[in-house]
Amino acid sequence: MDTSELQRIKQRYGIVGNDEGLNRALEIALKIAPVDLSVLITGENGVGKEIFPRVIHDHSLRKGKKYLAVNCGAIPEGTIDSELFGHEKGAFTGAVERREGYFAVAGGGTLFLDEVGELPLSTQSRLLRVLETGEFIPVGASEVRRTDVRIVAATNVNMEKAIADGKFREDLYYRLNSVSISVPPLRRRGDDVVLLFRKFALEMSEKYKMPPVRLDESAQKMLVAYAWPGNVRQLKNVAENMSVTSEVRAITSDILQRYLPEERRHNQVVAVAPASGKHSFENEREILYQILFDLRRDVSELKKIIRENNLASHPASHAPAGANGLPLFGADGSRFGADSYEAPIFEAEEIKESETAELPPAGVSLEEVERQSILAALTRNGGNRRLAAGQLGISERTLYRKIKEYGLE
Ligand SMILES: Nc1ncnc2c1ncn2[C@@H]1O[C@H](COP(=O)(O)OP(=O)(O)O)[C@@H](O)[C@H]1O
Ligand SMILES: [Mg+2]
Repeated sequence: MDTSELQRIKQRYGIVGNDEGLNRALEIALKIAPVDLSVLITGENGVGKEIFPRVIHDHSLRKGKKYLAVNCGAIPEGTIDSELFGHEKGAFTGAVERREGYFAVAGGGTLFLDEVGELPLSTQSRLLRVLETGEFIPVGASEVRRTDVRIVAATNVNMEKAIADGKFREDLYYRLNSVSISVPPLRRRGDDVVLLFRKFALEMSEKYKMPPVRLDESAQKMLVAYAWPGNVRQLKNVAENMSVTSEVRAITSDILQRYLPEERRHNQVVAVAPASGKHSFENEREILYQILFDLRRDVSELKKIIRENNLASHPASHAPAGANGLPLFGADGSRFGADSYEAPIFEAEEIKESETAELPPAGVSLEEVERQSILAALTRNGGNRRLAAGQLGISERTLYRKIKEYGLE
């Protein structure tokens, strides 16, 4: 596809960015729009999935017909079937009238099922039937109805895991996933984050009638290096927050830092280390372990020096020595001699208990350190894997893999 066509689409829908992954996602959307297949949009929270079904609908043969967006995660489980498929009068308490569902209303058009991974299993069965046969039965009805709806679904859930956990029907997944479009996370879009910030800063300056905030070079670098766990939505919030609250309009990295959540800033320090920007859990872990092991080596060297000093001073003079090996003197300059000696001032055993309690004992493998960190994080979070993964700075999927690997289930 030529770039001017892509530019035109971006302009029309207010999409900002030149990232290759984003371009590819848009190209696929435009290419498959006229082909009447189901589409599944995947990507983390806040990456901008919601614009894709709209682009697809507008470029399909259904563009003159209805477009409906439904957030499956926001509808209570008890009413979702009736919302999607409609109900008959008296089908349940409160069903005072017959009601058309989205599948009937969107007939001939496109239905966007957002957060489709949140659908209850019973609704998934009904959805599969509509997709396969075009037929559905409203709640409380006895007759089959027909509809012609194109489904575009979106999810931020790891569907393979949801299937493995028995939370999502595999057959439905394949049916929805005739075409899949993956929207990349913001942290992998390089300089796009700066362009997006500029757009949001301008929007906010208009909205709040204030001069736009601008990032200096250090702040731009920080923006690019930051992990953006909440993606474009988070960036937009930061821009809005800053536009409203910052008295200074020229934003430095020091100011920007105040708007980025504390915990993520730690990750970011590690994330900037590899020059390629393609950091992985593997090398973050290696950096952390390096620090940990250097620290442990320092501590054991210190302990050794102290122990040697004590040994050297005990039998010979029965006088204690300082950590530097020199004899200790009282405040008045008198040497602590054999007569006044009771115990070494620096107790090697004490240091072992208090200073090195957090460090793994010598001879422990990296795997064991990792296993214990994971176990500790899980315990700290009452077994909640999402929270534990967040604290460990690894993805939930990686955590699942590690739990399996170490038999921590
Ligand atoms: N490339 C982009 N250009 C401009 N705005 C974007 C872009 N991507 C996302 N947004 C904005 O970010 C916010 C979150 O996008 P949304 O589609 O709701 O994310 P999600 O993937 O969670 O559904 C929206 O306000 C959207 O307009
Ligand atoms: Mg969404």
